[in-house]
Order: sequence, then C-alpha cells, then structure tokens
Amino acid sequence: MEKWDPKVVVVGVDGSERSVRAAQVAAGIAKGHGSQLQVVTVVRPPEGWWGVVGSPPPADALASSMAEAQRTVLDETLAQLDTEGLDVVSSEEIGDPATALSEVCTSVGADLLVVGRRGAGMVERIILGSVADRLAHDAPCPLLIVP
Ligand SMILES: Nc1ncnc2c1ncn2[C@@H]1O[C@H](COP(=O)(O)OP(=O)(O)OP(=O)(O)O)[C@@H](O)[C@H]1O
Ligand SMILES: [Mg+2]
Repeated sequence: MEKWDPKVVVVGVDGSERSVRAAQVAAGIAKGHGSQLQVVTVVRPPEGWWGVVGSPPPADALASSMAEAQRTVLDETLAQLDTEGLDVVSSEEIGDPATALSEVCTSVGADLLVVGRRGAGMVERIILGSVADRLAHDAPCPLLIVP
C-alpha cells in the first residue's frame, strides 16, 4: 500500500475556540508533513436566498457585514496558529458548511479534513455538532475530529 503523505490539509473554522484548536492540530500535522494548510470558513446565506436564485449568492452579493465577519474569523484564527515555514492559504465559502467543506476538499484534492467536535453553535450538546456529524458520514477524504 502506498504511504499516506498528505499534500493538502483542510481545516474548517467557524470562529469557535474549538475550531481554533482544530486549526492548531491541522497546522501541526501540515508542518510535520510539509503539506499545504487550507483554512476554510463557510457562511450560510440567510434563509430564502437560495430559493430566489436557485444557487448560493455570489460573494459580492453577500451582506458586507457577513463577508467582514468571515474575514475576521479567518484573521483571528490565523493569528493563533504557528504558521512559520507553513504554506497557508485561506478561503471564504458560501453555502451549507458541511457541503461546502466537502466540495473544497474534493476540488483541492485534500488528503485530510480537520474539524472540531463542536463549534460555534449555541446549543451545548453532548453529541457531535451537526457539521462534524454530517462530515463523519460523507467526507470525501480522511476526517479528523478534534475534541
Ligand atoms: N461555518 C463553518 N465553516 C467552517 N467550518 C465549520 C463551520 N461550522 C462548523 N465548522 C467546523 O465543524 C466543527 C463542528 O462544528 P458544528 O457546527 O458541527 O458544531 P456546533 O456549532 O456546536 O453545532 P451546530 O452547528 O450543529 O449547532 C467546528 O469546530 C468547525 O471545525
Ligand atoms: Mg455549528
């Protein structure tokens, strides 16, 4: 069997401390393997937008406050990572978080997807968050869930 040698590691971040932790774990793995780290944040468009246009709105149609919040999530997460010597790229996506993360993984040929067990959701659950749960079922690449 061929050795697993990740070239691209993707991490989903939603502004929660747990997702920062997931990003730190992802950064450590990427560093250890010399992989590129792709930090992705997904914003869900307000209910109803999809119905009208039939697909997620383009980035420039997003309320600027939403785009700004997304940028802030990325900046503040990146600030908490040890990125020295690491090839890091970040991207902002629009849509359903689990679906968008899977699509990014497929399109960049990710070797690993890292997410937190829970995220920024308000409900303190004892079970997996819904995004982590969905991905556990249908992620297109190996998935690491960080508690
Ligand atoms: N919008 C998002 N963009 C990128 N990654 C996300 C997003 N939402 C969640 N994630 C990733 O999934 C992990 C688990 O979050 P999840 O949303 O499943 O839990 P939750 O917010 O506690 O619960 P829920 O959203 O179901 O109320 C996060 O730590 C993060 O890594
Ligand atoms: Mg959530």
